[in-house]
Amino acid sequence: MLNWIEKRTGFVSMTKDFLTEDVPGGASYWYVFGSATLFAMIVQITTGIFLTFFYAPSAATAWESTRAIYLNPYTHFLLSVHYWGSSAMIALVFLHLLQVLIWGAYKSPRELQWVVGVLLLLVTLVLGLTGYLLPWDMDAYFASQVSLNITGLAPGLGPVIQHIAQGGGAMGTATINRFFGLHVWLMPAVLVLLVGAHLAIFRHNGSAGPVVEDPRTLKVGRFWPDQMFMDGAFSFIVFVIICFLAFAFPPYLDAKADPTKFFVPYPAWYFLSLFGLLALVPPELHLGPLTIGTELIATIVVPTLFLVVVLLLPWLDRSRTRSFAARSGILWTTTIVVCTIVGLSIFAQVTTMAKQAAAPASPPESVVLSEAEAATTSTAGAPGAIPASNVGVAGATNANGAKVFAANCASCHGAQGQGTPGAFPPLANNPVVTGDSQKVIGILTAGLHGQISVGGMSYNGQMPAWKGQLSNKDIADVITYIRGGLGSNHASAVTEAQVAAYKP
Ligand code: HEC
Repeated sequence: MLNWIEKRTGFVSMTKDFLTEDVPGGASYWYVFGSATLFAMIVQITTGIFLTFFYAPSAATAWESTRAIYLNPYTHFLLSVHYWGSSAMIALVFLHLLQVLIWGAYKSPRELQWVVGVLLLLVTLVLGLTGYLLPWDMDAYFASQVSLNITGLAPGLGPVIQHIAQGGGAMGTATINRFFGLHVWLMPAVLVLLVGAHLAIFRHNGSAGPVVEDPRTLKVGRFWPDQMFMDGAFSFIVFVIICFLAFAFPPYLDAKADPTKFFVPYPAWYFLSLFGLLALVPPELHLGPLTIGTELIATIVVPTLFLVVVLLLPWLDRSRTRSFAARSGILWTTTIVVCTIVGLSIFAQVTTMAKQAAAPASPPESVVLSEAEAATTSTAGAPGAIPASNVGVAGATNANGAKVFAANCASCHGAQGQGTPGAFPPLANNPVVTGDSQKVIGILTAGLHGQISVGGMSYNGQMPAWKGQLSNKDIADVITYIRGGLGSNHASAVTEAQVAAYKP
């Protein structure tokens, strides 16, 4: 039988060839991280495929279908495995990378294997980022808004990429579709191709083996059966841990995304360090007459430089030796970088928790899941889509103003009018907004252009004119909303008649 298949396909000798690969220094549990990452990827692809059977990507159905997944115990477990599997995969990629770094296995001739490996880490992170949006709950919405705004900060192509990823000026169905396409097709396809390249290069160079001066002195082990057994055993343990966590700690579904409500997003743990960096730097630095916006530095410049250094590592560290003693510089740098990342993550966790404690409480999940009937009957984004506990937060009394704001202003000024330092002024806690109502009407009808200063930061952008774009009533309602519903703003309402009577 095997002979019959072998004659026609060559599969049997191919498999034998694959399994008899040399393992220098003999099989070891130190080599299991790569294969366990591969295993986690297979878990993600499998559970992910089945999740698409139940998920419907659009603003009107994403959260609703996710809720249905939560309400069925089998699909809930499936989703939960996918959720914990993603954490496992990213943790394993990090461990694998760290080990290659410590053992100097990136050195010639394995430079390209290292580069492909770092790209794999990036793709995995993009998968995490795009998957985060899909449930379309409050956290998914506001956390993704942060990452989209950061993308928009990048000089040159940033705003264009943000516009494309977002599918327009504000987040909505188009955003879900873009993220869905990236998450289930483009990124997995890139991932599988890169993994193929990573393994092919690995087979070409063979395993780096333990750190010794002369590899020829090592005894040679075989992949089959020893290493195969160890890889399998470790992957099995990983699987058991994923299933345990999935069972004991399923993910949490927040209320449906509502841009008019206030919410403190918490990032996935693997992005905490970047959040920490952003929270740590002051909004701007003054060097004599120079004012430097630090947000760009913290979110784009530092991570990009870091990535470039990591990618170029095999060329920056050109010494041939892999001995620990001779590489203390690299090892110390690695230790310091890892400690910094952990420190920033802890800092971000603490600040996020403090902010969450200060924010109005989100309804518990049981309420979210059971009160959904009421939520799904009102239109997305309209106040009232949130269980009663949140009523009274910004703008709930001026439904139309909140709606106009979410649709027309939030894309630039932020969902809570918090603005983007250096690019779009905050409207919350802004004395111009709560000051002379005639002036605000003027800004809204005719737009605004030229240098202004808000909260000690200067802005020099273009605010569109809204006369003709919005009805007088919508303009009046949105002004009333920004004067009374953002931050601690508290100023008089504006009427449709005032807007109609306004003469520049
Ligand atoms: C395309 C991005 C964009 C959109 C959309 C937008 N704005 Fe603006 N807005 C700006 C910019 C940029 C400025 C600052 C202009 C400057 O630097 O002179 C601004 C300034 C303002 C100001 C003046 C703030 C001050 O301190 O002087 C108000 C008020 C304002 N916007 C309200 C709104 C409202 C209400 C909407 C929705 C109807 C809206 N904006 C939509 C970009 C935008």
